[in-house]
Amino acid sequence: MYLWGGHLGGLSEFTHEFNKSIDFDKVLFQEDIRGSIAHVNMLAKVNILSEEEGKIIRENLRQILLDIKDKKLDIDLNEEDIHSFIENELTKRIGKLGKKLHTARSRNDQCALDLRLYSKKSLNLIKDKLLDLIKAIIEISEDNLDVLMPGFTHMQHAQVTTFSHYIMAYGQMFYRDLLRLESTFERLNENPLGSCALATTSFNIDRFMTSQELGFSKPTENSMDSVSDRDYVLEILFNNSLIMMHLSRLCEELIYYSSSEYSYVKFSDKFSTGSSIMPQKKNPDMAELIRGKTGRVYGDLNTLLVIMKASPLSYNKDFQEDKEPLFDSINTVYNCLKIMKPMLLSLKINKKNMLKSAHKGYLNATDLADYLVNKNIPFREAYKIVGDVVNYAIKVDEALDEIDLEIYKKFSDIFDDSLYDFIDLENSLNKRDVYGGPAKKAVKVQIKNLKDNIENL
Ligand code: ARG
Repeated sequence: MYLWGGHLGGLSEFTHEFNKSIDFDKVLFQEDIRGSIAHVNMLAKVNILSEEEGKIIRENLRQILLDIKDKKLDIDLNEEDIHSFIENELTKRIGKLGKKLHTARSRNDQCALDLRLYSKKSLNLIKDKLLDLIKAIIEISEDNLDVLMPGFTHMQHAQVTTFSHYIMAYGQMFYRDLLRLESTFERLNENPLGSCALATTSFNIDRFMTSQELGFSKPTENSMDSVSDRDYVLEILFNNSLIMMHLSRLCEELIYYSSSEYSYVKFSDKFSTGSSIMPQKKNPDMAELIRGKTGRVYGDLNTLLVIMKASPLSYNKDFQEDKEPLFDSINTVYNCLKIMKPMLLSLKINKKNMLKSAHKGYLNATDLADYLVNKNIPFREAYKIVGDVVNYAIKVDEALDEIDLEIYKKFSDIFDDSLYDFIDLENSLNKRDVYGGPAKKAVKVQIKNLKDNIENL
């Protein structure tokens, strides 16, 4: 039964199907009832409803909520949307009085309210999962402070780092994601209820009262904006996209770090699958799926950006299309975060292979140049000398610490025996104890700071 249409002829079966949103907005039933109860409490407080009327409506709404939760009441998917369903169900139960619920309210502020309540709840769930992931990363970082590995730029061996420093880079990314969620939450935390269709109401409602009851910091400032604003949904979709981007970058690296070419890490069987034809295969499906699902989460953001473009004030039915991308994005990110944490914690780190790999690719070439600089050779000159040494080393297929001192002397007579200590990988690492650097000392500071930051959230 429609909540509208006194003067209209009604929809055909197909246009009704096309128009309705209950198939997906049914998940908002708790938010819808919560919002209605706050609305009714307020209507009774300001004497638009009597105490008794307020009580009957409130109690019946509560009962409807329980009945849906206990599966005693099925949501009727023939209704137009969840708002229609709840209101019609209430009227079925208490008759004419149910029809008073919608006084001084429109579905425009109602659906905006429901979506904000749902978004708040979801943001908190994602926040918890992000926090869990950050804690796991800190733990992994603490356990791998001595695990040397090559650091890459352009995917080429660059300079030495540790798995601990490497994984903490992701700790920082996910921490920024967490801060973004917090900041979005502040803008989200305003109550649109009472904006009604677009221009509030002639009734003397109290929007501050419903704001307080529903846990919002305040009512939204402008009623036209309130029913047409989907910025907060877009913010969530963007935040989610960045979370997925970070997850995806990490997955991408772990996927090739787990290949036989690298063998830096090994996924637990719990996160791997086999092949139906190749008996030897172990495929990192979960990591690949997270990487793949990043595409759909980006798609969700793009969908709503395009829907909102050129949308005139105030409410338009286009906005009904906001829900599926939002729900999809939230569910996807939540599940990916949920998988990422145990997948990371169960990852086997192959310390030996990482170290072996760190000895290749002349990671200490910059150190050799720095060595010369310390002996007062200008950096550009030192860079050129070491370039020649590296060319020679490639030709004879030797690492820098395998080349004899006499040979070094041919490139510059400044070289002496102390160079070997200077370019030792471990020393090269520990010298990089600049704030933010890979030396054990510096990573410990990063770990401590991140721990403090998440504690002070
Ligand atoms: N199902 C609608 C939505 O999700 C509810 C609002 C309908 N309002 C209206 N004026 N038709 O956007």
